[in-house]
Amino acid sequence: MQFQLTEEHLAVQEAAREFAKTELLPGVIDRDSEAKFPKEQVQKMGELGFMGMMVKPEYNGGGMDTISYVLAMEELSKIDASASVCMSVNNSLVCWGLEKYGTEAQKEKYLKPLASGEKIGAFCLSEPEAGSDATSQRTEAQLNGDHYLLNGTKNWITNGSSASFYLVIAQTDASKGHKGISVFIVERGWEGFIVGKKEDKLGIRGSDTHSLMFTDVKVPVENRIGDEGFGFTFAMETLNGGRIGIAAQALGIAAGAYEFALAYSKERKAFGKPISQHQAIQFKLADMATTIEAARLLVYKAAWLKDQGEDYSHASAMAKLYASQVAMDVTIEAVQVHGGYGYVKEYHVERLMRDAKITQIYEGTSEIQKIVISRGILR
Ligand code: CAA
Repeated sequence: MQFQLTEEHLAVQEAAREFAKTELLPGVIDRDSEAKFPKEQVQKMGELGFMGMMVKPEYNGGGMDTISYVLAMEELSKIDASASVCMSVNNSLVCWGLEKYGTEAQKEKYLKPLASGEKIGAFCLSEPEAGSDATSQRTEAQLNGDHYLLNGTKNWITNGSSASFYLVIAQTDASKGHKGISVFIVERGWEGFIVGKKEDKLGIRGSDTHSLMFTDVKVPVENRIGDEGFGFTFAMETLNGGRIGIAAQALGIAAGAYEFALAYSKERKAFGKPISQHQAIQFKLADMATTIEAARLLVYKAAWLKDQGEDYSHASAMAKLYASQVAMDVTIEAVQVHGGYGYVKEYHVERLMRDAKITQIYEGTSEIQKIVISRGILR
């Protein structure tokens, strides 16, 4: 058993930490207040190779392992979860499936610009009436000669207005249930494709979350990924990996809040000494550090299993379930350590507390993770 990161891993971690400090930290409070998408920051993330980290170099990616990706996600999420969710979706939910199941032509046209960060991708599964119950897709694609006609609505789509390419899951044969679901690559700007309203959210306010409407959008047959009926398996497999990214995000949010709380506790004095010298605060710091470390082990283990080519569906659900709970618990305690200062924006921890909540909801609620875990146990 090896608990040591390699030189390459440490270099990725350091580069991400530096980027978060110099490029994400300045302005993060304003972007959150104004619900402003971190456009310039995401562009720089692309230039540094963060948007297609695991994609092979021949498709413009970084050719790195999942551990490297998790380390970068963790560091960026310590400061700006709105930027890191954009990165997570592009890497895990869009590039991964395109590289694994796309045709050479699809990879050439779509994967290359996504992996280089020149373009951004979105993953469109959720609908107004199909969130946890992902098989209940109402969006439909009907074959009409050399193209499909796509009709329906998608909800809560991350990168909704900043993306250029969208992986859209749709029903192609309602009589076949989940085996009648397919997946298509749809381009922004195609006739009949409308980006709907931007959601006004509790957290990750800089992330652009939108509903999308499709009315008779013509999607060429060559833009279907895999065979007809492959879409649900594609989505589930994609989410297995996506959950590692979100678990790493949750870990980063928790670790970021902890680092802010630790630093503050050494500076802030009460009753004649730094509050870090009071046992009430020491116990909080000890609990935070312990649960973060436990979450980190689960997240790294899931990433390692994926890199070994082992089954990681169960491990990624465990990592996401636990790390997202730790993100909630630790951020609440970080606000508490800060007292009144924790309740105002300047000290960052209230934002991290708001950001933490979404990690228990997107890419499957905590309850969905428990379904995936229990199925793995009982299989
Ligand atoms: N990995 C691989 N395959 C899986 C799978 C997994 N984790 N879970 C299910 N499947 C497969 C099953 O093996 C089955 O395939 P076969 O018929 O070939 O055997 C098929 O999928 C159907 O499985 P179930 O009968 O178990 O399906 P179900 O209706 O009971 O649902 C579920 C299973 C786990 C609840 C699934 O619906 C699910 O994961 N729901 C949550 C969806 C989700 O995470 N949505 C998030 C949206 S994306 C997002 O949030 C992105 C963002 O913006 C950040």
